Amino acid sequence: MPLDDLRIRTPDDWHLHLRDGDALRAVVGATARQFRRALVMPNLRPPVTTVAAGEAYLKRIREAATMAGHPEFEPYLTLYLTDNTTAEEVRRAAQHPHILGFKLYPAGATTNSDSGVTDLLGKCGAALAEMERTGLVLNLHGEVTHAEVDVFDREARFIDDQLLPLRARYPALRIVFEHITTREAAQYVQAEAGEHRRIAASITPQHLLYNRNRIFQGGIRPHDYCLPVLKREPHREALVAAVKGGSPWFFLGTDSAPHAQSTKEASCGCAGCYSSPVAMELYAMALAQADCLPQLEAFASENGARFYGLPLNEGQVVLRAEAQTIPKSLPYLPNDPIVPLAAGETLGWRFERG
Ligand code: NCD
Ligand code: ZN
Repeated sequence: MPLDDLRIRTPDDWHLHLRDGDALRAVVGATARQFRRALVMPNLRPPVTTVAAGEAYLKRIREAATMAGHPEFEPYLTLYLTDNTTAEEVRRAAQHPHILGFKLYPAGATTNSDSGVTDLLGKCGAALAEMERTGLVLNLHGEVTHAEVDVFDREARFIDDQLLPLRARYPALRIVFEHITTREAAQYVQAEAGEHRRIAASITPQHLLYNRNRIFQGGIRPHDYCLPVLKREPHREALVAAVKGGSPWFFLGTDSAPHAQSTKEASCGCAGCYSSPVAMELYAMALAQADCLPQLEAFASENGARFYGLPLNEGQVVLRAEAQTIPKSLPYLPNDPIVPLAAGETLGWRFERG
């Protein structure tokens, strides 16, 4: 039976990398076409660690979105937590209407994370206490980084080694477990119930659609390599089940992470999937495959805004049930294009603005 077109409330992307300069100008339109708001990550070089730097970055994003024809796009930021983040900076951030949290990158975990936190409970106590007091969210890249822990086990280990002690010490701290990839993380988030809930999770399209075989299909496929890395099939199934179950504590965050083709197709290729141009199509495909398309609206357009205490968007978008072939590459930097996720593949959906 052919699928029907789907009309839903305008969605938001609660985990996004936009970069800066030429790269920002090249990619912001793709997100702004599909999403009304986005929570933009601070892992620039140097990282965005202060409210002052954050305001300047928000202004550059708004200018780039306007130049791309989307003055209505509303960016939000999470600032980069470091060992030196002060309680005063957290207080300033909490008063800023477009700063929603601080992002924890364990040092060395991923792209541009060398300024990341070396010892969360040991070094960030003052900042965490102030976040707990003000209600600012801690956005977690939840992976341990010790060399002896297998790369596929780093998220599950993070729960036991870091998340449980963190939450024991700061029980009222509000947390988004970003881009979860494992059954353990989905179960952990699901398990906390009740009206005083403090934890939610974002989920990417690639972790709903693909398991780790995808990285090695017929050869090594750098454009499917991201962090946290794709996992085994039972983990993918657990993430799909979490969305299908309709729990309000899971929401859309693409983790679209643009890198130029030359830096992905290299002897040491960067981590990150560029999904923005077809993000909603990919999520629609994942939910349609799991026979739960009706959950797309809450997942993409309601759960995240509610967790962040923001109003739901007005307006609607449409996902047409018709074939669309994804370009093999798109313009990015001068003489260095970008390869989007699912490049060259034909999807059964096409996004249209309401
Ligand atoms: C992100 C990036 O490139 O900035 N990469 C990724 O694989 N997701 C960093 C991150 O979110 O871990
Ligand atoms: Zn990310």
